[in-house]
Amino acid sequence: MVKKLIIAGYGQRGQIYGSFALINPDKFTVAAVIDSDAKRLKQAAETFGCPVFSDYREMLKNDITADLAIISTPDKYHKEHAVAFMKAGYDLLLEKPIANNEKDCLDIYKAAKCYGRKVIVCHVLRYSPFYSRIKDIIDSGILGEIISVHASENVGFYHQAHSFVRGPWRNSKESSPMILAKCCHDMDIFRWLIGKSCRYVSSYGSLTFFKRENAPENHAEYCSDCAVKDCLYKAQDLYTDFNKVNFRGYFTVKKDKEGIVEDLKRSQYDRCVYFCDNDVVDHQVTVMQFENGVTVAHTMAAFSKEIYRDIKIYGTKAELRGIMEKNRIEIYPFKDENKVITWENDFTVGGHSGADQAMMNDIWKTLNGEKVKSITYIDVSVESHVMAFAAEESRLNNGRNVEITLDKEND
Ligand SMILES: NC(=O)c1ccc[n+]([C@@H]2O[C@H](COP(=O)([O-])OP(=O)(O)OC[C@H]3O[C@@H](n4cnc5c(N)ncnc54)[C@H](O)[C@@H]3O)[C@@H](O)[C@H]2O)c1
Repeated sequence: MVKKLIIAGYGQRGQIYGSFALINPDKFTVAAVIDSDAKRLKQAAETFGCPVFSDYREMLKNDITADLAIISTPDKYHKEHAVAFMKAGYDLLLEKPIANNEKDCLDIYKAAKCYGRKVIVCHVLRYSPFYSRIKDIIDSGILGEIISVHASENVGFYHQAHSFVRGPWRNSKESSPMILAKCCHDMDIFRWLIGKSCRYVSSYGSLTFFKRENAPENHAEYCSDCAVKDCLYKAQDLYTDFNKVNFRGYFTVKKDKEGIVEDLKRSQYDRCVYFCDNDVVDHQVTVMQFENGVTVAHTMAAFSKEIYRDIKIYGTKAELRGIMEKNRIEIYPFKDENKVITWENDFTVGGHSGADQAMMNDIWKTLNGEKVKSITYIDVSVESHVMAFAAEESRLNNGRNVEITLDKEND
């Protein structure tokens, strides 16, 4: 049965959900779009032919029927928007992070309980062909019991520069700690694969490289004006490299090199990476212990050539190794033959190695009453955020062990 969506925030993420509906008219239709940007609203009205609103309060007055409201506005608005939509009776697909600080995350969680609404958090990795296969492998018992996990989030040097030095998630006071913005996905994956809550967290890390003292001599404030040769972070080179993941949508709709360079000039994405107002880390290591004794070591680092995640799972009967972006999982049973699983990723909407598209398919199934293994709600998702906040607290206290005491039953 076709389900109706409201999209609040028709930016990069909102457009992915809209595209999914356009390509899958048998699954979703868009009932309304809200965005504060007039150009995006016009584009949405032309694309979907649905009512559009520049303010969510106007939309709520119109009593529009929908099966799910997607909150894909910037992080700082999540609490206001999520609570208002739940109060008005909508179930939500809420972009991660749930909110920028622990109190707001818990307030949204409590509001969901209070209004009796379902809130699915966009922890998209759960739906990816990679992690979804790993979950099946664990559930099959072939690894035995999980004892320990080792994983890395290799951010990619140019992704770090875009999002965490020049872009929206560069400053923890304006957005959130990077361990939340980037790794709440990973925390959620650990919680899901291990099947238990995390109890203790310790973390170390800092902003080491993207700082003034590392700027080359004679650099300029903006790359457009800079004479330094061979700078790895020259914005004009990074944003016109069509082999790299496309972050151009943050400042231009143009597709040609000249147009991109023109719109980049003197924008925030043209700034010298050594002279931005960034304060989030460029490397962080977190160790965790779960309530069943399973240990996890997680590394997040800016300094990788490509953007990728890898994982090793140590079980009592076998070891698993995998790299998400390579679509490859290796299993090394202690007794039997080794096994390599590979696949072709075939997706047309969104990114995350097919996870965005897979999530929308699973949500549609869930809304139609099917049981889907990856779907989870905010009562579990909030744990990943609490783990990230605990990691940040530990990092700021030089690795002090932080005990997680989230008592969800008695709040
Ligand atoms: N699930 C993931 O892996 C993932 C990946 C990237 C971003 N995100 C999250 O998705 C959300 C959106 O990110 P994005 O990259 O699409 O950002 P974006 O800036 O491209 O889109 C946000 C949209 O919201 C609109 N907007 C801003 N303030 C508004 C308001 N008060 N009312 C209505 N509309 C408003 C903007 O005009 C813009 O169109 C953020 O919370 C972000 O952290 C999640």
